[in-house]
Amino acid sequence: MLYLILSDLHGNQDALSAVLRRVRRKHFDGTFLLGDLVGYGAGPNKVVEDVRRQIPGPIWKIRGNHDKVVAEIESGENFNQAALQAARWTTSKLTKTNLRFVRELPQGPIEAPGGVTLCHGSPADEDQYLFSVYEAWEAFNLWSGQVAFFGHTHVPSIFVAQGREVRVALLQGPTGTIRIEPGLRYLINPGSVGQPRDRDPRAAYMTFDTQARLVRWYRVPYAIERAGERIVEAGLPKILADRLTLGV
Ligand SMILES: [Fe+2]
Repeated sequence: MLYLILSDLHGNQDALSAVLRRVRRKHFDGTFLLGDLVGYGAGPNKVVEDVRRQIPGPIWKIRGNHDKVVAEIESGENFNQAALQAARWTTSKLTKTNLRFVRELPQGPIEAPGGVTLCHGSPADEDQYLFSVYEAWEAFNLWSGQVAFFGHTHVPSIFVAQGREVRVALLQGPTGTIRIEPGLRYLINPGSVGQPRDRDPRAAYMTFDTQARLVRWYRVPYAIERAGERIVEAGLPKILADRLTLGV
């Protein structure tokens, strides 16, 4: 079975459309969606509608921290000004149906096919960032599964644990593959569709083949200028457009 893995779409309809165009010819048995469908970007309704109707189903989905603020489950008091402004704007623009869809996204972690765990931040805490080996080491200690896919940092990354040793598996090149080996444990981030932060502005996603135990990562160019124009036209902070161009 082959699954598409998408995270941190952040209301970027141009990026999501490019990913969906890229994967259209491939057969997927479903999608793992790791949260932050909305927030930052100026196309929240299109993104939620594409999630509901266009991405390969069935979908295993969880909420992200921006989804919680947009759905007014959390106040966003820890957000910076631009993020909070975008979240408030998104709440006001989403249709009733789309807002309900965002509000009803389940809290991670959840289990998904292939014996994997899905979470937004870490398996133990949906809001925690896993940037460093130390943070990954802590997460491995608080969770007992073999493979977890996570998002939240917007940085494609793979942490591998062998016993108590944790290392980073470098993602060399825009496309590549890692095989899930028995006896090793993995924390894997597909990167962000809608707001990459690893200085590669192209949309990021992964796929997971449950039989071959292969995880593959990809990057797709998209109309970044258009996505930026939408942000400026919506009256959202220009910095949210600029960072798309830089991939930060
Ligand atoms: Fe995010």
